[in-house]
Amino acid sequence: MISIDSAGISDIPDICVIEQACFSRPWSEKSICELLGNENSLVIVARGGAGCVGYIGARVIDDECEIMNIGVLPAWRRQGVASALLARLISEATLRRALFLSLEVRASNKEALALYGKFGFRTAGRRKNYYSAPVEDAVILRVEIRPVL
Ligand SMILES: CC(C)(COP(=O)(O)OP(=O)(O)OC[C@H]1O[C@@H](n2cnc3c(N)ncnc32)[C@H](O)[C@@H]1OP(=O)(O)O)[C@@H](O)C(=O)NCCC(=O)NCCS
Repeated sequence: MISIDSAGISDIPDICVIEQACFSRPWSEKSICELLGNENSLVIVARGGAGCVGYIGARVIDDECEIMNIGVLPAWRRQGVASALLARLISEATLRRALFLSLEVRASNKEALALYGKFGFRTAGRRKNYYSAPVEDAVILRVEIRPVL
């Protein structure tokens, strides 16, 4: 059983653990603090078990919401956690008048590409050798979201 909630300062240690578990170049605690403290940011966590098991971080600028990071602890994957985080992000981003979601993803990240495909994202471009450790292209994805009436 998970619950979806806005992240607070007390979630930073759990978010760091998720970053370490999910990425070869995890965000530092300082970067996560800055994301949480930015008025343009949306940071949402999934709580389950003893703490946060997944999170999504994004920023809204004008009509675009850019997803910076999404990660779920390995033991909690394939149980709808990322889908629940994305669904909540979409509703919060529309409240902030965003009309599009966008993101960059490693070209080889099949799990993430499948997740985004399910949410209707389409390829909008590619950045050559964008990532390091290992070096890899980024695929730029974008999807239109509906405004709240
Ligand atoms: C990508 C990630 C966030 C998905 O999280 P998740 O909670 O397992 O995703 P969900 O359970 O909500 O899955 C939703 C859909 O995504 C796709 N998907 C997720 N994991 C998949 C896998 N291992 N293989 C194939 N498709 C997968 C499926 O379409 C799935 O729907 P289904 O279960 O009905 O088939 C997770 O694997 C993760 O944290 N990966 C490491 C970090 C990362 O790569 N983040 C993305 C950076 S852009």
